[in-house]
Amino acid sequence: VATGAFLPPLMGWSSWNTYHVNINEDLIKKQADALVTTGLKDVGYLYINVDDGFFGYRDETGKMHAHSERFPNGMKPVSDYIHSLGLKAGIYSDAGDNTCGSIYDDDANGVGSGLYGHEQQDMDLYLKEWNYDFIKIDYCGAKELGLEEEKRYATICEAIRNTGRTDVSINICRWAFPGTWAKDMARSWRISSDIRPRWSSVKHIIEKNLYLSAYAGEGHYNDMDMLEVGRGLTQAEEEVHFGMWCMMSSPLLVGCDMTTIPESSLALLKNKELIALNQDPLGLQAYVVQREKDGYVLVKDIERKRGKVRAVAFYNASDSAYEFRTPLRVLELGGMTKVRDLVRCEDMESVEGECRYTVQPHGVLICRMEAEERLEPDRYEAEWAY
Ligand code: GLA
Repeated sequence: VATGAFLPPLMGWSSWNTYHVNINEDLIKKQADALVTTGLKDVGYLYINVDDGFFGYRDETGKMHAHSERFPNGMKPVSDYIHSLGLKAGIYSDAGDNTCGSIYDDDANGVGSGLYGHEQQDMDLYLKEWNYDFIKIDYCGAKELGLEEEKRYATICEAIRNTGRTDVSINICRWAFPGTWAKDMARSWRISSDIRPRWSSVKHIIEKNLYLSAYAGEGHYNDMDMLEVGRGLTQAEEEVHFGMWCMMSSPLLVGCDMTTIPESSLALLKNKELIALNQDPLGLQAYVVQREKDGYVLVKDIERKRGKVRAVAFYNASDSAYEFRTPLRVLELGGMTKVRDLVRCEDMESVEGECRYTVQPHGVLICRMEAEERLEPDRYEAEWAY
C-alpha cells in the first residue's frame, strides 16, 4: 500500500531459493553484510527478505513467536541489524492458516503460521513491533479454506493500512497471475510456480509472462520469482534470465549465497545498464512484436518518452543458434538507428532497414536502439501481417 512517488521493481535478496526454511539469525546477517561488501547495495539492491522458516509458535494470546533455535533473540534484532546497514527488511506470511514450507517443516509446529484469524495481530507484530518494510503474502494455506482470493487479500491490505505504515511494499504470491485486482493491492504479484536453477524453468516463466505486459506499470509489476543467477545456469542462460527479468520489469531478488557467488554472476547482477532498464521510470513491461518458432523479439519504451529510444530483446529460446531478421519498422523505428548492447555494455554497428542478428542457443541480445524517427504503427499495418 505504498503511496506517493513512482516505485520501480523491488531489488534485494531473498532467503528462499538457497536455504528454504533452514535460515537463522547469523545466516541472514551474513547475507546482509554480503549485500554491502559485494557492492550490490551500491547498485540498488536494498532489501533483505526473510522468507518462510522463521515461525515458532503462537502463545495463548495468539501472538506469533519466532523459531526458538533459528532466531533465539526474535525477529526485531534481525530487522534492526538490516536497517543499521542502510538496508530494508522483508518478511513473509500466508493468506491462509499455514505456509507452504511450515506444513512440511517439522520444527515449525506446522499449522497456524498463516494470517487467517490473526490478520491485525500479525501485521501489527511484523510491521510495527518487528518493523519490517516488505511482506510477501503466499496463498498455500488458503486453498483448502475455500476463501475468495480478492476479498482475502483486500482484508489483509486493510490490516496493513491499519498499522499506519504507508511505506510497506506488498507481494502477492500465488502460482499464476491473480487477476487485474492485484494492481490495486500490491507492488508485485507472482505469475508462475516456483523457479528452479534450470533452463527449462527460466524458459517456462518467460513464456508465462509474454502476454501480461498490459497489467504492469505505474509501480506495479508481474513478479517472475527470485533470481537463480549464481546457482549453476550457463553464462548465456544467466544472461537470458537476468536480462529478460530486466526487460519485463520483474522484481530483482537475488536468490544465491552472496558470500560465494561466482565473479561472472556477480558482474551480471551489477550490470548498471541492465539495472537501469529494469528500473526505468516509465515502469513498462516489454511486449512481443515478432515471433517465429522459438525466436522472440520484444520491445519496451524507455527513458521517459514514447519516442525514438526503445529497448529491444532478440531472445532465442531454442537449443540451436537462431538468425533474427527484423525490419526496423516492426520496432516502430525508422532511419539510421544506433544500437548498444546492454549485456556487454558496448556500442554495435548502426542499423538501417533491417536487423540481422544471430543469437546463440538459450541466448539473448538486449539492446538500446536510438532511431532517427519513431514510426506510428498504422504506417505499416497494412503491409505487415502478424
Ligand atoms: C511458496 C512460494 C515460495 C516460498 C515458499 C515458502 O512455494 O512460492 O517462493 O515462499 O512458498 O514456503
